Amino acid sequence: MCGIITYIGNQNALPRLVDGLRRLEYRGYDSAGVALLTKDGLWVRKAVGRVEALSPELIDPPETTIGIAHTRWATHGGVTEPNAHPHIDTDGNIAVVHNGIIENMDALKKQLEGEGVVFRSETDTEILPHLMNYFYRGDPLKAFTTALKQVRGTYGCAAIFKEHPDRIFVARNGSPLVIGLGEGETVVASDPQAIVAHTRRVVYLEDREIAVVTRDGVDVMRLDGTAVETSVELIDGDYGVADRRGFPHFMLKEIHEQPESIERCLRGRLDLNQGNARLGGLNMSPRDLIGVNRVINVACGTAYHAGMVGAQAIEAMARVPARAEVASEYRYRHPIVHPDTLFFAVSQSGETADTKGAVEEILLKGGQMMGVVNVVGSTIARTCGRGTYIHAGPEVSVASTKAFTSQVTGLLLFTLMLARTKNLSVIEGQEVAKNLQALPGLVQRYLANPGPIDDAVERLIHARYALFLGRGLSFPVALEGALKLKEVAYVPCEAYPAGEMKHGPIAMIDEETPVVAIVPNDSQREKALSNLKEVEARGAKLIIIHTEGDKELEELATVSLPIPACPWYCSPIISVLPLQLLAYRAGVALGRDIDKPRNLAKSVTVE
Ligand code: AGP
Repeated sequence: MCGIITYIGNQNALPRLVDGLRRLEYRGYDSAGVALLTKDGLWVRKAVGRVEALSPELIDPPETTIGIAHTRWATHGGVTEPNAHPHIDTDGNIAVVHNGIIENMDALKKQLEGEGVVFRSETDTEILPHLMNYFYRGDPLKAFTTALKQVRGTYGCAAIFKEHPDRIFVARNGSPLVIGLGEGETVVASDPQAIVAHTRRVVYLEDREIAVVTRDGVDVMRLDGTAVETSVELIDGDYGVADRRGFPHFMLKEIHEQPESIERCLRGRLDLNQGNARLGGLNMSPRDLIGVNRVINVACGTAYHAGMVGAQAIEAMARVPARAEVASEYRYRHPIVHPDTLFFAVSQSGETADTKGAVEEILLKGGQMMGVVNVVGSTIARTCGRGTYIHAGPEVSVASTKAFTSQVTGLLLFTLMLARTKNLSVIEGQEVAKNLQALPGLVQRYLANPGPIDDAVERLIHARYALFLGRGLSFPVALEGALKLKEVAYVPCEAYPAGEMKHGPIAMIDEETPVVAIVPNDSQREKALSNLKEVEARGAKLIIIHTEGDKELEELATVSLPIPACPWYCSPIISVLPLQLLAYRAGVALGRDIDKPRNLAKSVTVE
């Protein structure tokens, strides 16, 4: 996904902009560029590829304390240097960087070409500097806002004007922007990751707001010019600066960080005495909870899989109907929203467009909306207004790992709260609370001895096709395992409920087909075992994730991956671990770009 970083302050802008671009790299992109404002005008350099590819262009840069920079994830127009941002107007007066999509691009482009403007790129973004220049009569703020009022679509954008080197103009409508207030410097970025190195004091722009940014601070107003009362917030202490801590890839670091991240998610939220959980951010009393008669989790990708686990746990433990919905489907299905339904938007980034759209639709229909979010202050978290942060810390690798286990942990905490108001006794609740508290230790224990992962990798990396199977809570884990293997190692595979595999997919099984099965020692074990025997009879090579000590499964497996015993509701958090490692090591074996896989973005902020 595109990334924006701007700097205005008392230090040299370029190194700070390049550092900011590097901190945004994990979002996924295909080109990058910077624009500096000097006494001689705009100095613009861009390049296709990673930020490293930009470095050779940054020879003999001018010293200046104001600039903007961008990483582009192509939406309109190919991956070319002319299409990279920043874009400037014909006269070289204004430079702009932009995230989002200008839906009325064609009409505006035609209007500008009629005024003699010659476009140099295929992008929608290039419209902005030309439009601003068209309206510029000496007042940059007026030109900036007038131009944006012509635009239909989404933007997070920043502009610098040659004749006004003391200000940067930023605006937001659908693409996030965070303003970091430092000492004598102000940094604006697409997400807090690029700001925490400078300051933790931030102002979050809302949709249809603009800001005039100077080295001393920020002046926020609405697009119609009315003033906005800003509140300075502090980025959460846990939301540290992501660093690899000596690991070769962020993905591996984040896999091994899970004992810590789960512990942070649990911290202060378990009441062992009452056998209950406390999620203050939900702002729901037991009286409120007892009125909840349905739960719906909306999310995308890995977060959707976490939502599936949460829904099954809620239904099984609290005996309340619950389900997970794919956000991009749910938002356009004209959903029926009941007042006694509690909705959770599950999202690591808190910026996923489809999840955000589902949240807005549910709120518009009067639904009770909560967030289960990692990035503090993100759009979904603020739009929901209530919910729980999972405190996983920055998740940099595009492939989500620690966010998944912390999303599930957060939903299990809610499950316990709801179940205790419904049908769980204090003794039963104490048992659940104790088992949740033990999760970080169990995760640590598995990661310390993960078993013959490489044997499984050997059987998967050259497979023409692989099938992941699971029943009950292990089915969303199978989905998650298949997604990880696809997105990190690009291995063709799919996941199916084990009992469903006979209704078609079994036709895909031939000699040597690897089948990855998640079969913990739960109520579905016997059924899953018979499914495995069906595929084994047809030549499949079984990679089985099973509870340690399960000799029958160990003998049936071609590759046996034992995991520590745990209660049924904890098993998804443990059984996903070998699948994360499997995908990681397969990606390494195949020489993939582990933290930034092809075509993927960390936060999909466009539909
Ligand atoms: C998972 O590894 C992917 N990165 C992707 O499926 C991701 O989970 C999905 O895009 C949702 O992102 P979110 O949690 O930030 O909303």
